[in-house]
Amino acid sequence: MSVIRQLRQIDADDAGVDIAFRADTHSGLAQPQKAVPARWFYDATGSALFEDITALPEYYPTRSETDLLRRHAADIAAMVGGGRAVVELGSGSSMKTPLLLDAIDPAAYVPVDISGDFLRDSALALAARLPGLPVYPVEADFTQRVTLPDEIADLPKLGFFPGSTIGNMVARTAVDLLRNWRCALGEGSLLLIGIDRIKDVATLELAYDDPAGVTAAFNLNLLERINRELDGDIPVDNFTHRAIWDDVHARIEMHLVAACDMDFTVDGRRHHMAAGETIHTENSHKYGPRDANLLLRSGGWTPLMTWDDADPAFALILAQATAFRSAP
Ligand code: AVI
Repeated sequence: MSVIRQLRQIDADDAGVDIAFRADTHSGLAQPQKAVPARWFYDATGSALFEDITALPEYYPTRSETDLLRRHAADIAAMVGGGRAVVELGSGSSMKTPLLLDAIDPAAYVPVDISGDFLRDSALALAARLPGLPVYPVEADFTQRVTLPDEIADLPKLGFFPGSTIGNMVARTAVDLLRNWRCALGEGSLLLIGIDRIKDVATLELAYDDPAGVTAAFNLNLLERINRELDGDIPVDNFTHRAIWDDVHARIEMHLVAACDMDFTVDGRRHHMAAGETIHTENSHKYGPRDANLLLRSGGWTPLMTWDDADPAFALILAQATAFRSAP
């Protein structure tokens, strides 16, 4: 029988709204370049829309990463070995997870995700598929410090951070996250991370602006969520989705563009937007081979092996939390 532990709860105010969502929205809408952090995309609707995105023909990262996991499962298993607690950061619906868990004979699985309902459902589905594997879901924002379940304290660990979610952070935040997780998982731990590669602009922009409009709906749902949870009256129909490649920062930027001048309130606070003004909602950084390795090293992880023979290009990197050496 699988063991599914009770979920830990996130901090919510009296109305049940995540305190950090309220604070991020207020501070983000008060900036000269309005911005709301991408992690707030993932309410139940946003998480479901993201799953739809991963099935789009234009959104290659999921397909490329799944191919890599399938093709290199035996190599990954040989390097990782059995008996580890697999800690997945931002597990979502854990679609790729069975490929990894089937290959490596783990001792436990710890999905960490901010979306509690989604996490609960996917943890149940996974436990049914892999009976006998203890599953300890943790409802938490994996960009913050997370306390891992006591049950895995003595097990060797493998962090699993697929999907190039690291690309949604600017480099400084990405390095902070890698360092935090190095600390949480412990020296000697392994990390299997998916990182999207830089490629031609047409492929990149189409992946984030699909003709069916699923990514647009995902982006616009952030405004719906603000209206629903923060008592907003944002006229969502007056916004359009934009996804553009920024070559200086090597990233796709997603914005919500105001189609006309407008006024709205959120939580009783008034906001004005002029036609053409945008709310910046997401960065999706892409990395060349050296950039990716430098990022990992900066976060305290030494790359051991890279699998990146997918088309369109995507990288799966196995890294280890090695001891710090300041000189050769
Ligand atoms: C979750 N994350 C890695 C996705 C990405 O590709 O940056 C989120 C996404 N945004 C639009 N499409 C997918």
